[in-house]
Amino acid sequence: MTHEVVEKNVGLMAVLIAIVISIGGLVEIVPLFFQAKTTEPVEGLEPYGALEFAGRDVYVSEGCYNCHSQQIRPFRAETERYGHYSVAGEYVYDRPFQWGSKRTGPDLARVGGRYSDSWHYVHLMNPRDVVPQSNMPAFPWLDENELDPREVVSRMRTQKEWFDVPYSEDQLETAPEKLEGKTEMDAVIAYLQSLGTAVGQGPRR
Ligand code: HEC
Repeated sequence: MTHEVVEKNVGLMAVLIAIVISIGGLVEIVPLFFQAKTTEPVEGLEPYGALEFAGRDVYVSEGCYNCHSQQIRPFRAETERYGHYSVAGEYVYDRPFQWGSKRTGPDLARVGGRYSDSWHYVHLMNPRDVVPQSNMPAFPWLDENELDPREVVSRMRTQKEWFDVPYSEDQLETAPEKLEGKTEMDAVIAYLQSLGTAVGQGPRR
């Protein structure tokens, strides 16, 4: 009887469906906020060093994420090409995360250590010098733009104060000397070399 009432009343059915889906969603999503596996850093993961951190901002401001994802799905076609699939604990210091959803170019989640610094330099100056068929744009200005240490450090401090990224005072104080005289190019290369290295690809630098 009750079933008939529901089946003959579209409005009521829609409301009941919404309630059921919400409960299902909450049951799936809420536990993820509390599991160590999804909220705590994987072993060996360190917050980005000053230069890598600055490079991450260059990556964002140049829009690299429009063509590159940073998440390897747990499928064979992906793990054979890129390495171990991505896990939540790798991203705890990534605010905002750079997962992306477009792969005009390859996934970069584990590109750290795959090429030398000089390969990245040549590639960013003009991708076609190392990959003739590449349609990635060149970013030669990165080599001319110097970093502003004060600005980078204040952003690191924001990460510490607002998002609990565990930078020590010592790290923040010595950051400016690590950035002195460095260009956006140095920074983005350091960032790329650090990507994905906590899970299986040698030490972070
Ligand atoms: C318009 C799309 C586009 C944009 C924007 C772009 N890329 Fe690429 N990228 C590609 C393509 C396509 C390739 C593959 C061909 C090649 O290696 O050049 C690639 C390759 C790469 C590779 C080599 C990856 C590998 O595993 O071989 C790196 C590293 C890289 N890009 C970094 C960057 C960075 C850093 C930026 C931003 C400064 C950027 N890309 C912006 C399209 C793009």
